[in-house]
Amino acid sequence: MLRSAVKKKRIEFTTDIGRIRDGQTTFVTVGTPSNEDGSINLSFVKKATEDIGASIRNSEGYHLVVVKSTVVPGTTSRVVRPILESSSGRPCGDQLGLCSNPEFLAEGAAIKGTLRPDKIVIGAEDDESRNTLAKLYKRIYKGKKVATITTNPTTAETIKYASNSFLATRVSTINTIADICQRVPSADIETVSKAVGLDPRIGPLYLKAGPGYGGSCFHKDLQALIAFGQSIGYDPILLSAVEEVNQRQANEVVRMSQNLLGSLNDRRIAVLGLAFKKDTDDIREAASIRVIDQLLKNGASVSAYDPMATENARKVLPEQVSFATELGGCVKGTDCCIVMTEWDEFRKLSPRDLRTMNAQNIVDARRILDRSKFQGFNYVAVGLGSAKP
Ligand SMILES: NC(=O)c1ccc[n+]([C@@H]2O[C@H](COP(=O)([O-])OP(=O)(O)OC[C@H]3O[C@@H](n4cnc5c(N)ncnc54)[C@H](O)[C@@H]3O)[C@@H](O)[C@H]2O)c1
Repeated sequence: MLRSAVKKKRIEFTTDIGRIRDGQTTFVTVGTPSNEDGSINLSFVKKATEDIGASIRNSEGYHLVVVKSTVVPGTTSRVVRPILESSSGRPCGDQLGLCSNPEFLAEGAAIKGTLRPDKIVIGAEDDESRNTLAKLYKRIYKGKKVATITTNPTTAETIKYASNSFLATRVSTINTIADICQRVPSADIETVSKAVGLDPRIGPLYLKAGPGYGGSCFHKDLQALIAFGQSIGYDPILLSAVEEVNQRQANEVVRMSQNLLGSLNDRRIAVLGLAFKKDTDDIREAASIRVIDQLLKNGASVSAYDPMATENARKVLPEQVSFATELGGCVKGTDCCIVMTEWDEFRKLSPRDLRTMNAQNIVDARRILDRSKFQGFNYVAVGLGSAKP
């Protein structure tokens, strides 16, 4: 899609900030990483806002600025607006518009999320800003019906954090139940999830037990909301628990391999999958990194394989980790393999693919293997009760 858009000259890239003047609307999509204490780092947003303001300072006509980056409640009105007004030399109103318009797409499904969003949230400073942005989206989505919520910027910003808080809470809730199942012989989280998801008040999505959430958003956004809550005199302890459960889920995966092998010292472990999620090369906050870290601390040696994320992982993992270019090389001579990412390639695994392992131990942290194929293997999976919990 990108290639075709570039060819048709429907998109171009520039490092010339002055080009902002050529357009009527500017979206701010810069990163909003965490500070050391978990609070949000707004330095990129501030710098981009200053640059936008300076760029439109001597231009004529209406300009709308849209904050799409994820920012804590109040940022657009209390941080972006004053910077924009002073750097552009114009007040918000007739000549300058400002909206918060959070992004809800999921990595690995960005095109689908963009073309068919479940909602658009427009938090506008005033009517003109709201109408200008609503009109833009109307043109983009033409006849398609997309639910549009219009509100003030602070509520819009809160909606984004609320969504990620709910989603992360669901993951930690199902993982908590999975950890209980695991300690009860014959209990199975898969069936529990299926049945629970049939309750219309709960619904079936995001009920898959696994090694814990990763990616650039959940951890960062929960930490930011916790820090923001504390800064305004409220400690959101539920969210801290969600985060703690998530961190601990990596220990569960390591504990499962320990149960299979006894001590991990001098054992060779194959880690299949490094990306936090299939179809991405993103290893930010990936559970695989936490698991590998602990495996190494327990004296194991680790070989890893991922169809897309190896180059990124190489930059953050210690040198002792060896990276294989294909699955066969990764599992060869290992005592246990741990499936960490739900890649389709792993879903299709058969005993033949693992025949060069030194011992037949599998930890399926994603519940994706067809375990009926692995008779004769010691197979354990997150949320699958075993005789030796
Ligand atoms: N990645 C996602 O799936 C996703 C989903 C929803 C919301 N978000 C939010 O969107 C924002 C961006 O996320 P991302 O994953 O794309 O981050 P990213 O770090 O991958 O990309 C941000 C880009 O902004 C550029 N940038 C920084 N300062 C700039 C400046 N002053 N002028 C111009 N460009 C500048 C950086 O060079 C970088 O290319 C974050 O607030 C994030 O929380 C991301």
